[in-house]
Amino acid sequence: MSDELDSFLKELQDQIYDETLRDYGRKAFDRWIDPSHMHPMENPDAHGRITGSCGDTMEIFLRFKDGRVSEASFTTDGCGPSMICGSLAAELALGKEPEEIERITAETILETIGGLPEEDQHCASLAANTLQVALHDYLD
Ligand code: FES
Repeated sequence: MSDELDSFLKELQDQIYDETLRDYGRKAFDRWIDPSHMHPMENPDAHGRITGSCGDTMEIFLRFKDGRVSEASFTTDGCGPSMICGSLAAELALGKEPEEIERITAETILETIGGLPEEDQHCASLAANTLQVALHDYLD
């Protein structure tokens, strides 16, 4: 790659990073750059999968030990905010009992991340709803 193209791409990336940090805040930005728990899980105890009205699909996988979530992960083919929210949903479920997971909502995710722009708030609903589907798969 030419130095000119390298420099253009670096400038473009810096601009995207600056705008994302400004619009989403540090917590969400860090999770967007490095979303924890983003991988499928083999042989989970519970699995939820939802395609939201936006057309994006999220999956959440849970493993339980002694009645609590010992492992949680997610995948998504969706937007950056869906990666942020899926990562948080998995993290919030870790160590929790089913009754505690039932109380994890889109609002819980949004409060934890410090809010998202209004047009991205449905991404938190997709993550929370997928978590609830996974929980009900476990309970059933
Ligand atoms: Fe579909 Fe964000 S736009 S999950």
